[in-house]
Amino acid sequence: MKKIIVTIDGWSSCGKSTLAKQLAHKLGYIYVDSGAMYRAITLYFLRNHIDWTDPGQVHQALTDITLEFVPNSKSGQSEIYLNGENVEYVIRDLVVAEKVSEVAAIKEVRAFAVAQQQQMGRNKGIVMDGRDIGTVVFPDAELKIFMTADNAVRVERRFRELYEKNPNVSLEEVKSNLEMRDYIDSHREVSPLRQAEDAIVLDNTNLTPAEQFKKALTLVEGIARSEGQ
Ligand code: CDP
Ligand code: CDP
Repeated sequence: MKKIIVTIDGWSSCGKSTLAKQLAHKLGYIYVDSGAMYRAITLYFLRNHIDWTDPGQVHQALTDITLEFVPNSKSGQSEIYLNGENVEYVIRDLVVAEKVSEVAAIKEVRAFAVAQQQQMGRNKGIVMDGRDIGTVVFPDAELKIFMTADNAVRVERRFRELYEKNPNVSLEEVKSNLEMRDYIDSHREVSPLRQAEDAIVLDNTNLTPAEQFKKALTLVEGIARSEGQ
């Protein structure tokens, strides 16, 4: 089948990366977690005490940042490296989640990330998830999925994930983080989160990962076939 670009955008913690990984694995495509790039940039800013309200400091910091996705030698899952260090796990921390939406709203930060994302998709055969992938990064993508799920379900899913790593985390702080990020992400001036006109909505409130995968795979196969073998 001809290789296509699949974009998956949507609200925080609704299952985008779970679906993107499933599809990429099945199709033999590259998977790119664009949110990991914004999280890694935020981690760098926090660690280096960058004042991101100062455009000069942001500009200098971005020239000092190199991001790479490298497959894990055991699982094969792609993991993000910041200046040579594997930061795949540390970027999931709430400390980063508390600031990432502020950093991701900065125009120069977005230009830096988007240029690299577009480069990664130049040969197609890619599944990328995020907030602006179908609207800005790959507006001509063959398949655009917009994911959503009930707020309470999303909070519960992310809470369970974080609680496994840190039992001190509370449901309340996860809830307020998700609400805050969704608000900033959908109200920012540059590339706000919104559904592309030609995106297909996938509400997975009552779907298991296996069920959502089945639905999405049917969409991919239909589109890839209509694009020509
Ligand atoms: O996985 P989760 O839904 O928690 O978020 P993520 O995909 O890791 O993204 C973290 C943050 O990065 C989001 O809340 C956005 O602020 C930002 N982001 C963005 O602005 N544009 C993207 N394409 C991806 C993420
Ligand atoms: O990438 P995003 O932030 O949208 O979400 P995710 O990291 O893929 O999924 C958040 C959590 O929800 C993970 O623990 C998934 O296993 C879980 N999930 C689920 O329980 N049911 C689904 N249909 C999809 C995801």
